[in-house]
Amino acid sequence: MSINKEQDFGTPVSTSSQLVTLEIDGFKVTVPEGTSIMRAAASIGIDIPKLCATDSIEPFGSCRLCVVQIEGGRGMPASCTTPAAEGLKVVTQNQKLAEVRRGVMELYISDHPLDCLTCSANGDCELQDMAGAVGLREVRYNPIETHLDAVKDESNPYFSFDPSKCIVCSRCVRACEETQGTFALTIDGRGFDSKVSPSQNQSFMDSECVSCGACVQACPTATLMEKSVIDHGQPEHAIITTCAYCGVGCSFRAEMKGEQVIRMVPNKNGQANHGHSCVKGRFAFGYATHKDRMTKPMIRPTIKDAWQEVSWEVAINHAASKLRRIQAKYGKDAIGGITSSRCTNEEVYIMQKLIRAGFGNNNVDTCARVCHSPTGYGLKQTFGESSGTQDFDSVMKADVIMVIGANPTDGHPVFGSQMKKRLRQGAKLIVIDPREIDLVKNSPHVQADHHLKLRPGTNVALVNAIGHVIVTEQLISEAFVKERCDIASFAKWETFIAQEHNSPEATESVTGVPATELRAAARLYATGNNGAIYYGLGVTEHSQGSTMVIGIANIAMATGNLGRDGVGVNPLRGQNNVQGSCDMGSFPHEFPGYRHVSDPDTHQLFEAAWHAELSNEPGLRIPNMFDAAMDKNFMGLYCEGEDIAQSDPDIQHVHAALRAMECVIVQDIFLNETAKFAHVFLPGASFLEKNGTFTNAERRISPVRKVMTPLAGYQDWEVTQMLSNAMGYPMNYSHPSEIMAEIASLTPTFAGVSYEKIDELGSIQWPCYDKASVGTPIMHEDSFMRDNGKGLFMLTEYVPTIERSSRKFPLLLTTGRILSQYNVGAQTRRTENNAWHAEDLLEIHPHDAEDRGVKTDDWVGIKSRAGETVLRALVTDRVQPGVVYTTFHFPESGANVITTDNSDWATNCPEYKVTAVQISKVNQPSEWQEKYQAFSEKQLDLLEQGLSNG
Ligand code: SF4
Ligand code: SF4
Ligand code: SF4
Ligand code: FES
Repeated sequence: MSINKEQDFGTPVSTSSQLVTLEIDGFKVTVPEGTSIMRAAASIGIDIPKLCATDSIEPFGSCRLCVVQIEGGRGMPASCTTPAAEGLKVVTQNQKLAEVRRGVMELYISDHPLDCLTCSANGDCELQDMAGAVGLREVRYNPIETHLDAVKDESNPYFSFDPSKCIVCSRCVRACEETQGTFALTIDGRGFDSKVSPSQNQSFMDSECVSCGACVQACPTATLMEKSVIDHGQPEHAIITTCAYCGVGCSFRAEMKGEQVIRMVPNKNGQANHGHSCVKGRFAFGYATHKDRMTKPMIRPTIKDAWQEVSWEVAINHAASKLRRIQAKYGKDAIGGITSSRCTNEEVYIMQKLIRAGFGNNNVDTCARVCHSPTGYGLKQTFGESSGTQDFDSVMKADVIMVIGANPTDGHPVFGSQMKKRLRQGAKLIVIDPREIDLVKNSPHVQADHHLKLRPGTNVALVNAIGHVIVTEQLISEAFVKERCDIASFAKWETFIAQEHNSPEATESVTGVPATELRAAARLYATGNNGAIYYGLGVTEHSQGSTMVIGIANIAMATGNLGRDGVGVNPLRGQNNVQGSCDMGSFPHEFPGYRHVSDPDTHQLFEAAWHAELSNEPGLRIPNMFDAAMDKNFMGLYCEGEDIAQSDPDIQHVHAALRAMECVIVQDIFLNETAKFAHVFLPGASFLEKNGTFTNAERRISPVRKVMTPLAGYQDWEVTQMLSNAMGYPMNYSHPSEIMAEIASLTPTFAGVSYEKIDELGSIQWPCYDKASVGTPIMHEDSFMRDNGKGLFMLTEYVPTIERSSRKFPLLLTTGRILSQYNVGAQTRRTENNAWHAEDLLEIHPHDAEDRGVKTDDWVGIKSRAGETVLRALVTDRVQPGVVYTTFHFPESGANVITTDNSDWATNCPEYKVTAVQISKVNQPSEWQEKYQAFSEKQLDLLEQGLSNG
């Protein structure tokens, strides 16, 4: 079987609206101005031989294989670098051209190992193809010197570099520069000595390479090659699906041999990623078949007992009867569930349906509670819809980019690369972050114009100061405010924000940001044409997270930076389907489509459709579930695809609450931390084993397609459906497309969404309804989604968090992510990505380290008002004095032992980003870590016992 390859047009598409018509080999073709002759020819099925050109990067014109002749022109120009022009007559094939091409190929082949039959690229090698295409039959040269003995670099865990096969076409170098923006590769030396060199002649692993794989994809030979292809051979068929890691939602071709994924290749037609990916999506898929995968349902009476493997039927009936018994004993509201932002829209939808209609309460919440719930609240209030306003491509039209509390190159890498491309084209950059993220000055050819290094917890004071400058320096977009916004609310905001206490000078002592710098940044945002704001958890995970989101919305409306390309307010959503899980009704107060459970019309609509009596009282949020468990009012939890025992704040309280419950049902692909407190374990399916859809940060609904049989036998939606039926609430879907049809019928913003349309268009950005039948890339173009169509300004008084530094806890801890690991790490820790980040480190400024006698690699105790943990130190001036920083990808790090239970006033989103701590050098793990270790080992023991009995 041969794999269906994507067509390579040789050079990138031109977006010019001017058209030119030319003739190629006697055929007329009309293309946008700026299109290369090579691409124009390819568009009518004439493939001109090529080696150094590929359509993901700009042409270079080095191999000379693509020469053509132009009537009336001199010589033989390269078709990849020669633009199509009106009236040209081009010849791509004749005797002379064939001779030149054969000569070129002869030179290449004379310095190439002729081991095609045993080469891993056999059948997928452009050099081999071109030798065939130009009819090369013999090689007359026998060079004295060759590169055939060049040494391989196997340092990268995912791909190998065999320089003996390199034709120095520089496609890899250009891919690293243009697509990824890392500039890790150069061509070192000249003439015969030229060779590809990672950084300063280092190995790939020691270089600046971030293992995105763009160079591997661009390489026309076997020089850069996925190790999985070397090990297992060429794939045989491909299925388009969507990455299950971050909220960029990259589209991939899962290239398969039977049911084995050989490699993940980013889809060139993917509308979120345009053929690019990061190390996670492209390479870190091995967790799906890791030996730790759980494939059998299990039950046990208490968490002190060994697990017992049982049939699906027994496990489901057992779970259902336990939940029903709890309801009989403690009341209808004593059970609930947590949906997952890793699962598909369809899975989340039926999970919340089971809880609302089957459990008979609204005790459903989701992990967005701990990340972007303030986004939902703040944007719904001001703009009328709980989502970002733009598509990713909009960044290419931005003139000023403001990044607040986000680290796109690590957290949202493919979008980070797109943003860097725009910045290299000259867009200005304002970074608002306590830490020096890579975009500030560690990305080649990118430098922030302003880095506002604020103190953690002072976001609202800072955004108010920006608003103050906009208002008091008359930088308001009056026309926009007058036409598009609620004028009365604007008038109130204008008066509030102009008050002296909001000025940069007054807030300087709070934020630590010099007033002059802040004024300059505010002016740049307000006057630099298209201003686009991108923000992350550094905005939301605060006691004033919702206020800050509102503050951002205020300044965007005040400057008219909404409703068109290049502007907007864009939350960079963390998990693959966090937008979708919120859209699907995962919050205890909202039905799908963000409609309040107490709204009579909506309530009636769902009661009629679901044939069930529904509660019109909002249910419990996650932290309330824990509190209620401690009070013995919440005794049964169905938790799908979330690891609350690692990811939620004040983890000792979470563990105590889980211990207090009578029935914890965990559905996951691994025995995660939460499962160690569970009584029923239902094995889940990875994204490769299911059909459905994910919705990314730009509201894009993309297809997820089953490429292998679920290891445990069922997709997650089927398991939820079985549980629902066992609980006595019937569900009879036979395919997720039927679930999507139900979602569309009940949710106005999804009214036009269907599997047929997704297949036809590739993806759809909601709202998709009669007014926008193919979706909505940019929201609020003519009016806001609020009832009266007007944007609402809201007051944002700064209220300092109660979590302050003190003599006892003098440093502020803030947290973030790293490129190679993902959230709680359950997936990436089970891949070779550990080669880049095998433990969480504590970053500390040299001054603070010196004061405490701490050096890099020392173990340090981190003590907060909530608890204590121990990590290894990394001394760096990336953090400012007084601030320390860590990631949270490893359970044993216990980052959430020290985070407090402070939370956002509106949504309860935890204040992960500010914890007052003290640091000291230690030489042993914390008491919590020792206990955790012992508990964890005991639980693994109980699993082993169960497996050996079973
Ligand atoms: S893997 Fe990515 S970052 Fe590394 S060298 Fe290749 S293109 Fe550059
Ligand atoms: S490694 Fe591949 S892409 Fe890079 S120069 Fe060599 S042949 Fe070309
Ligand atoms: S950027 Fe995000 S969605 Fe894209 S490949 Fe990486 S992890 Fe997957
Ligand atoms: S493909 Fe045009 S010069 Fe190499």
